[in-house]
Amino acid sequence: MGKVRMLPASKKLKGKIFCPPDKSLSHRAAMIGALSVGETVVQNFSFCHDTWSTLHCLELLGVKVQALPNQGLVKISSSGKEDLSEPTDILDVDNSGTTLRLIAGITAGVQGLSILTGDQSIRRRPMKRIIDPLRKIGVIIGGRDRDQYAPLYVIGKKPLHAFHHTLEIPSAQVKSCLLFTALWGDGPSFIKEPIVSRNHTENMLKAVGSDIRKQKEVIEVYPGKELKARSFNLPGDVSSAAFLIAAALLVSGSYIIIQNLGLNPTRTGMLDCLQRMGAKIKTFDAREEWGERQGHIAVEHSILNHFEIDREEIPSLIDEIPILSVLATQAHGRSIIRGAGELRVKESDRLHAISENLISLGALVDETKDGLVISGPVRLKGGKVKSYGDHRIAMSMVIAGLIADAPVEVEDIECISISYPNFFQDLQKIGYGNFQIFPDNSLMSPHEQEEV
Ligand code: S3P
Repeated sequence: MGKVRMLPASKKLKGKIFCPPDKSLSHRAAMIGALSVGETVVQNFSFCHDTWSTLHCLELLGVKVQALPNQGLVKISSSGKEDLSEPTDILDVDNSGTTLRLIAGITAGVQGLSILTGDQSIRRRPMKRIIDPLRKIGVIIGGRDRDQYAPLYVIGKKPLHAFHHTLEIPSAQVKSCLLFTALWGDGPSFIKEPIVSRNHTENMLKAVGSDIRKQKEVIEVYPGKELKARSFNLPGDVSSAAFLIAAALLVSGSYIIIQNLGLNPTRTGMLDCLQRMGAKIKTFDAREEWGERQGHIAVEHSILNHFEIDREEIPSLIDEIPILSVLATQAHGRSIIRGAGELRVKESDRLHAISENLISLGALVDETKDGLVISGPVRLKGGKVKSYGDHRIAMSMVIAGLIADAPVEVEDIECISISYPNFFQDLQKIGYGNFQIFPDNSLMSPHEQEEV
């Protein structure tokens, strides 16, 4: 298990950079390619651990996948959703919740048995949220420990019943699972989302010709139209960019430009929150393609004020709360995050992981049932922190290491490749290279360890 030793940033960050392509869009482009007739070409595909899981599962469902990582390209050839076949092996999603929950919706319409499972963290994550609604519409599905967890079994059939469903949890994964299922419905289905979550699945399905409409809070799916393969060129991932944005805001004198970033408003809650905090961030050359806004942003070192985030805003920045918490330690005043209980069932219990780590570096953090209260600004001291096997916790703590008074060691950093395999190279590209990576957590001498 590897670790990194971060030394405080000694000079400003600068430069122009592309962030990794959007992971959420990459999963969906591959899956929607599998449901469409013809060849789907995905340019700027995110090749990371999670999206490889999706490609692997699609192959097992009989889809032809050609992955060309050196060109950032994936080609998916399919004769459409009616041609997907019973998987020839267990669908192992490894660490990817998006793969598991979305593919479950697809397998509901694939004749035969599908078994879905993943790593230890996936097998602890709640699955009843997809099992219950799918069962209500006649899908034969179940899971371990009275339908709470993976492994899951799905016995697919078609057509499925059309349905009305209200999302109790504002989860894009649950919504997307149901959107896919609705494509096999024997009539129009209606999904009500009282709190909006990311709408990439809706945008992409529309782009391949599906009849999907949104009326106020209700998404209407009219099945029956053939989905036609097309090309997608994906923008950068704002959830990965969040770490570089935070770094530039925190390190004195910094100014960076992040090019071609996905700016879909259902994903940019962190940018909105940063505006309220007084961050100097400018968007330019913004445009929209197949419903997805994208553009460049410039980020400048800023003095930050505290913020408050409530339940309604959480889905638009759900993955950014760990890094926002690091920013909160440097913001003036008391920052409050409420209604974020969902963070307890992510790749780790993120509320606990972030508060334990930040407290160990000297931050003032109170962990509440469904949020955090963080007072700042506080000078962070050095120390050892854990990734909890969670990529976003690991990267958040790496960024904390840029502004701590002494070295910060982050253990078990290989999880970073779940979403951002080139994270350290990108930090170098914007001028930060003050880190040492050790292939083993325990490789430092006792003397060195004392120094930390
Ligand atoms: C995702 C939705 C969110 C997010 C996850 C990716 C997606 O999960 O946290 O990283 O691509 O649909 P939930 O739907 O569980 O909120």
